[in-house]
Amino acid sequence: MDKLLSSRFNHESLSGDYIFPPELRPGDLKIPFGSNISVIDLSEAENGDRTNTIQKIIKASEEFGFFQVINHGISENVMNEARSVFKELFEMPAEEKQKLCSDDPSKTCKMFTSSVNYATEKVHLWRDNFRHPCHPLEQWQHLWPENPTRYRECVGSFSVEVKKLASRILSLISEGLGLECGYFENDLTGSVLLTINHYPPCPEPSLALGITKHSDPNLITILLQDHVCGLQVLKDGNWIAVQPIPNAFVINVGYQLQVISNGKLISAEHRAVTNSHDTRTSAAFFVAPTDECVVEPAEALTDEHHPPIFKAFKYKDFNSHYFAKYADTETVLKSFAAQKG
Ligand code: OGA
Ligand code: NI
Repeated sequence: MDKLLSSRFNHESLSGDYIFPPELRPGDLKIPFGSNISVIDLSEAENGDRTNTIQKIIKASEEFGFFQVINHGISENVMNEARSVFKELFEMPAEEKQKLCSDDPSKTCKMFTSSVNYATEKVHLWRDNFRHPCHPLEQWQHLWPENPTRYRECVGSFSVEVKKLASRILSLISEGLGLECGYFENDLTGSVLLTINHYPPCPEPSLALGITKHSDPNLITILLQDHVCGLQVLKDGNWIAVQPIPNAFVINVGYQLQVISNGKLISAEHRAVTNSHDTRTSAAFFVAPTDECVVEPAEALTDEHHPPIFKAFKYKDFNSHYFAKYADTETVLKSFAAQKG
């Protein structure tokens, strides 16, 4: 595996293996913020306006597949501690980070540069990544890094809070879709993977990408985007930037929620661009079904007039298909479409 970007000394020019073909490059660095991506105040749901909050969440998930939440109840202190420990992680000496690196596909807790397909990919991504499962905490926490010394404690508290937040949001979504209470409180949310992206300043941001266009394979993603811009969402064929809001989380619908909602909610394609001034660190919690969990359109949402548009599958089969193909959203979802006729 090549050296982490964060362990190399200077990035004065962009080497050719980071330059994307013209049709995939970000090009324009001044993409406007999508002011119509909803910012939802979650405290309103508790203060008597639950129905209104639910409507806003469902509308945003139908139109954009993305929204942001503020006043979500996770304390600033817990967030700041996690943010600072994520930064510390990538600022550790190269030897310390090297201990966490692996290109073994079966290793669940690992650091790498670009993507897990480094050896075979045509163009590399301008990012380093560290990922590991975090739910249930007791099963995974002892496998997390010993350095930074505060990592296990800070990330442990943060991930427990984020899991609770995901449950609250999913309960609003299930109510909005007309599903029974607790619909997602089982194997559909049995796995949580934390992936931390570290994007150093890039010498040619218009030619490189932090993450290429994709939809998330899981159920729902809770993303701490940091104060530096970089996340863009594809809406009606145009890229729009997601504005960083201090202490907000960006929430996006994954493929599984699109399937369960029988196509009502959309897993929008998105990407991460880089910039030439600031390091950006984002942390995404991928809330996902367990491997053996069977995913299919919810029965309550289908009848003879609204037949299921997806077939039932095991999550692990979806996942292996997704990573083998790494195709655009339309192609991935077509493979899981219900048979016609
Ligand atoms: C992801 C992702 C966006 C970001 O990790 O799947 O889309 O802003 N990240 O880092
Ligand atoms: Ni993503």
